[in-house]
Amino acid sequence: MTQAFDVVVVGGGPGGYIAAIRAAQLGLKTACIDDWKNEKGGPAPGGTCTNIGCIPSKALLQSSEHFEHAGHHFADHGIHVGDLKLDLKKLLARKDTVVKQNNDGIVYLFKKNKVAFFHGKGSFLKAADGGYEIAVAGATSETLSARQVIVATGSSPRQLPGVAFDEDRILSNDGALRIAQVPKTLGVVGSGVIGLEMGSVWRRLGAEVTVLEALPGLLGMADESVAKEALKVFTKQGLKLQFGVKITDVKVAKKSVTVTYNDAKGAAATLEVERLIVSIGRVPHTAGLNPESVGLKLDERGAIVVDDECRTNLPGVWAIGDVVRGPMLAHKAEEEGVAVAERIAGQHGHVDFNTIPWVIYTSPEIAWVGQTEAQLKAAGRAYRTGQFPFMANGRARALGDTTGFVKFIADAKTDEILGVHIIGPFASELISEAVVAMSFKASSEDIARICHAHPSLSEATKEAALAVDKRTLNL
Ligand code: FAD
Ligand code: NAI
Repeated sequence: MTQAFDVVVVGGGPGGYIAAIRAAQLGLKTACIDDWKNEKGGPAPGGTCTNIGCIPSKALLQSSEHFEHAGHHFADHGIHVGDLKLDLKKLLARKDTVVKQNNDGIVYLFKKNKVAFFHGKGSFLKAADGGYEIAVAGATSETLSARQVIVATGSSPRQLPGVAFDEDRILSNDGALRIAQVPKTLGVVGSGVIGLEMGSVWRRLGAEVTVLEALPGLLGMADESVAKEALKVFTKQGLKLQFGVKITDVKVAKKSVTVTYNDAKGAAATLEVERLIVSIGRVPHTAGLNPESVGLKLDERGAIVVDDECRTNLPGVWAIGDVVRGPMLAHKAEEEGVAVAERIAGQHGHVDFNTIPWVIYTSPEIAWVGQTEAQLKAAGRAYRTGQFPFMANGRARALGDTTGFVKFIADAKTDEILGVHIIGPFASELISEAVVAMSFKASSEDIARICHAHPSLSEATKEAALAVDKRTLNL
């Protein structure tokens, strides 16, 4: 028998589960289908983000940072740790517990909000009665129908041509989160967000990490000054970064991987490592969704084609998150999910794509929102900048973490904040002030005139805003 809903959401990652909750809050009878399985085969809602992305990677980053601090930085505080030992099994088990807590939290939220959850693969069957029929293939088979369908099926890791992930020697983000023994040598292909975060985790735990990047430099999407500082710091920490690399061959042996490549000068080189993480971007995921059965349009990259409001080519079918255009970020997926649910309910859902923050959870953290200098130059927009180093911030000195700076970019005439770029301690938290400021179209003068607690890292934000007008107080 077909079960009828107002809204069916396919995919229970941050895009899908949040869309389902918002739709239910708005009084719509809502179902969410997700096929992620835990190790016992049971449901594990939360998608890539919760299971093999944002959450477990941050758990490992935290644990590995503690390990590095205990080994290298506690002594600066007069704390001496005797025989420092790593219990990797426990460290990985803690990460799994954190993931499970998040899975369970989503199950609870579905119950609380009366979202009907179906564990299995959702696929379009046909258009029917002004809506759509969707099959769920799981432990049991069901057919659901709804006038409104939200597709939130996420993304999968991109593989190097001809080099399949075996999650033993050739690791995607999944395998990179559960290496059972710290490898002596670890290769990483791609110095993007995953490469830097996972490379940092395993370097801190003792691996010698070499990163091979195709582009001529680090973090092309970040502001140049931040990328330059990041390169300096990561190199000092011991990450071996090579740029302008063209990989020609990857050979997997029983206990090693050999990568053959041309370096930036075109000379042939090889890298032999115990394991290789391939983090060269992600691709939209629609396998099993059966979009052809209803004529749902995909682009040449396999992404579902949507307009600015996440409408697909089919009436009543929406798509959000990693499976559509735009940055592949959990909070972007969530914002789209809320906006689509509100549009379905007749409200005016809105996503401001100009104020979506980026955060890289390395140490130091890197975070930014808005435009870079290079983007503004290319657009021919006149701007002023102000920068303040954490070296001159009392709280950063007390923390013992004075790397980096806060940088403001503001319109030369109106002083409207156009971008804020941070590299330094707790950049992930500090960036929120900049997001709020930009969302309210604040000027750098606005931030400069707001009282910030002392001593706090946020004073560096205020000082960077003051620096736009060349009137810092502590530098
Ligand atoms: P997903 O999270 O991929 O969820 C899609 C869900 O749909 C999955 O559960 C999938 O199994 C399910 N599904 C797919 N097809 C079907 C089907 N036919 N039927 C039923 N279910 C289906 N982003 C951040 O913002 N911050 C971070 O710190 C961060 N860290 C990351 C770290 C790593 C290692 C990785 C890989 C990604 C990270 N991301 C981070 C990116 C973030 O995980 C994604 O942007 C986010 O998960 C996208 O959400 P989504 O809902 O679109 O898709
Ligand atoms: P990415 O797009 O961030 O970086 C991929 C890197 O690989 C690029 O620098 C690219 O030039 C390089 N590359 C591509 N092909 C290559 C090749 N053949 N040889 C060498 N280098 C090559 O992708 P990544 O790191 O895989 O992450 C995917 C996405 O997941 C990110 O873009 C981001 O959206 C999301 N993510 C977000 C995080 C966060 O918000 N903190 C953390 C981790 C992932």
